[in-house]
Amino acid sequence: MTPPLDDIDRLMTVMAAAFDPIFGEAWTRRQVEDALMIGNCHYRLIGTSGDVPEPGAPAAGFFLSRHGFEEEELLLFAVDPAWRRRGLGLALLGQFAQSARDRGARRLLLEMRQGNEAEALYRRFGFVPIGKRPNYYRGRDGETMDAITFACDI
Ligand SMILES: CC(C)(COP(=O)(O)OP(=O)(O)OC[C@H]1O[C@@H](n2cnc3c(N)ncnc32)[C@H](O)[C@@H]1OP(=O)(O)O)[C@@H](O)C(=O)NCCC(=O)NCCS
Repeated sequence: MTPPLDDIDRLMTVMAAAFDPIFGEAWTRRQVEDALMIGNCHYRLIGTSGDVPEPGAPAAGFFLSRHGFEEEELLLFAVDPAWRRRGLGLALLGQFAQSARDRGARRLLLEMRQGNEAEALYRRFGFVPIGKRPNYYRGRDGETMDAITFACDI
């Protein structure tokens, strides 16, 4: 699935604003383009009103996911800081689940840096922790953090 260039621009604008560079979680434009070339990766933009943004209008958030056999993994998920705590993240997770279900997924997966405040949102949506990768993330000062894998049956 190759999205229109404008969509990648809008996605990258949210990415640049949303991820703390300390953790190196943001992807480069090249990584996003390569993932979307593969065919099993999917994305969705959300506008400030919760709908798909009009062409040319800025996006407030997005997700990017990878489909596997009966599973779909959330690879990137972000809302612009200016538009947080208005339910857009929850709405995006709902859209992620619905689109994954439409592709045949029965389970959602994601990996999160331990301590990320997104955990409250994931748990509220129905994700539960199923595993841990010790010391997977490294902050700028060398501090390491575990990656927690969460799953949600759909
Ligand atoms: C995680 C993220 C996408 C949430 O987006 P959002 O639009 O603010 O989320 P919502 O408004 O839908 O939140 C819904 C509920 O989730 C919980 N929640 C969301 N963010 C929270 C936070 N920072 N702290 C505590 N609870 C939070 C709350 O229960 C919230 O409901 P409330 O606002 O009525 O209390 C956003 O904070 C973000 O982009 N973070 C940086 C990127 C990131 O870390 N992505 C996840 C990678 S694993």
